[in-house]
Amino acid sequence: MPAPLTDKAWQQLHATAVEAMGRAYAPYSSFPVGVAGYADDGRLLSGCNVENASYAVGLCAECGLISDLVRTGGGHLVAVWCVDGRGETLMPCGRCRQLLWEHGGAQCRIQTPEGERSLAQILPQAFGADDLRKGAP
Ligand code: THU
Repeated sequence: MPAPLTDKAWQQLHATAVEAMGRAYAPYSSFPVGVAGYADDGRLLSGCNVENASYAVGLCAECGLISDLVRTGGGHLVAVWCVDGRGETLMPCGRCRQLLWEHGGAQCRIQTPEGERSLAQILPQAFGADDLRKGAP
């Protein structure tokens, strides 16, 4: 998937995120979330939140997205769009920014309420695999 994404590609990402949001299992929060992403080979991936009666065990939508990426062949994410129950752009929680960082890296694009940004912009000075290599005793 070449960068920058075309408007049409972004629209497909948004539509896929909304579709995924419609399949969310969120009976406890009543806050369905959907997310979609493109892998570097152009694969279209998605995820939705899946809650649990043991609240803390619930899975964010981004967990499903990363699972979809790995399950369907790996690679890395080049673009992501996360939406709330109205289909509006939603910023990933802190934990999920870290998940996206691992599988998308600094240059991965993400839609925010302020427009398109990179993961480096929404997770500045991120901790990642490089730090493990550099900081090992
Ligand atoms: N949620 C996500 O799926 N992704 C986020 O980045 C933020 C929060 C979910 C978790 C929970 O099921 C619901 O939204 C309310 O917090």
